[in-house]
Amino acid sequence: MNELKIGNLTVKVPIIQGGMGVCVSLSGLASAVANEGGIGVISAVGIGMTEPDFRKNLREANKRALKKEIRKARLKTNGILGVNIMLAASDFDDLLEVALKERIDVVFIGAGLPLKKPSNIKTSLLEYTNTKFIPKVSSARTAKLIFRHWSEKYDRIPDAIVIEGPLSGGHQGFRKEDLNNPEISLSTIVRNTIHEIDFFEQKYGIEIPVIAAGGIYSGKDIFDIMSVGAKGVKMGTRFVTTNECDASIEFKQNYLSCSPNDITIIDSPVGLPGRVITNNFVQEIQTGKKKPINCPWKCLKICDYRKVQFCIAEALFNAATGNFRNGFSFAGTKAFLAKEIISVKETINQLKNEYLREQLRFELILI
Ligand SMILES: Cc1cc2nc3c(=O)[nH]c(=O)nc-3n(C[C@H](O)[C@H](O)[C@H](O)COP(=O)(O)O)c2cc1C
Repeated sequence: MNELKIGNLTVKVPIIQGGMGVCVSLSGLASAVANEGGIGVISAVGIGMTEPDFRKNLREANKRALKKEIRKARLKTNGILGVNIMLAASDFDDLLEVALKERIDVVFIGAGLPLKKPSNIKTSLLEYTNTKFIPKVSSARTAKLIFRHWSEKYDRIPDAIVIEGPLSGGHQGFRKEDLNNPEISLSTIVRNTIHEIDFFEQKYGIEIPVIAAGGIYSGKDIFDIMSVGAKGVKMGTRFVTTNECDASIEFKQNYLSCSPNDITIIDSPVGLPGRVITNNFVQEIQTGKKKPINCPWKCLKICDYRKVQFCIAEALFNAATGNFRNGFSFAGTKAFLAKEIISVKETINQLKNEYLREQLRFELILI
């Protein structure tokens, strides 16, 4: 696999571990992936739920916990670390500020269109930083919109772009009815995005890598998507069943025991469809049952806790800590392929070998 270049950052193994909330990817998983030469990503969403005072003061708890996890990860690795922050989070600016002050290498921005400059963060912190900014979107059109807007308004462009197709775990950037549309494929969106951002690469004289995500599970998947021009991949589901993943053993077992039919779509209070592994809780919400909500703080900008059917942050945190009576796990379409829990090192080695095997097979076909 070729190295991934993001500006002056060289990622030896072009694999980014997707940030997974709530508390599925913290310092343990992120540092292990960074140690193997990829980018390890801490998910910032609801990270303060691990703190004793989160019910009283989630905003402060989130900031404190994020700072702690970044520092813990730094003690375990000299590799490249990222933070994933959802734009839909009410405290997006706070979390971004913590990440920048901690000099995180990369910030991944998901669940929203990052068009406005965060107003509560000092301009100097935003402009004189080495941190790379990478939005995650699900269409070439949205990618172009962001590039055009940043270019016209701020005379800069994102350092890379993540394109997430319709097979990923967690929130989806597609309408529910489009998730099974065979015409919408990750490879097509990657190709179209490369085409759309070419203009901006020429304008600024820099290369902007397109990173592909969603349903990439094996080394063959990596080879295939790189063959259409992706320069790196972002993988969440595959890293759940590792020893270092920060979720509970029950969460990992849930992956090991699921079948393809257990992987289903729900309507998330975020306002997007979400891909999960079904259980009683999921079936109840799918049939319209309202779950009790004890909202300590409106953690999502658009969430109206008086109206929503359940609290997504609580449900995900419960699952991460092993309480599946009151929660469920996010998972990608290929989660059922997991057979065992192994180390991140073994996972990356498997991916490299699978990639090489596919590359060899491809070269043999060409002869
Ligand atoms: C358990 C789980 C939790 C996730 N949580 C988040 C999250 O909090 N924020 C986010 O932007 N993406 C989240 N994602 C998406 C991942 O960062 C990544 O983009 C996705 O997993 C890639 O698709 P894959 O699961 O098929 O590998 C989550 C995915 C999973 C599987």
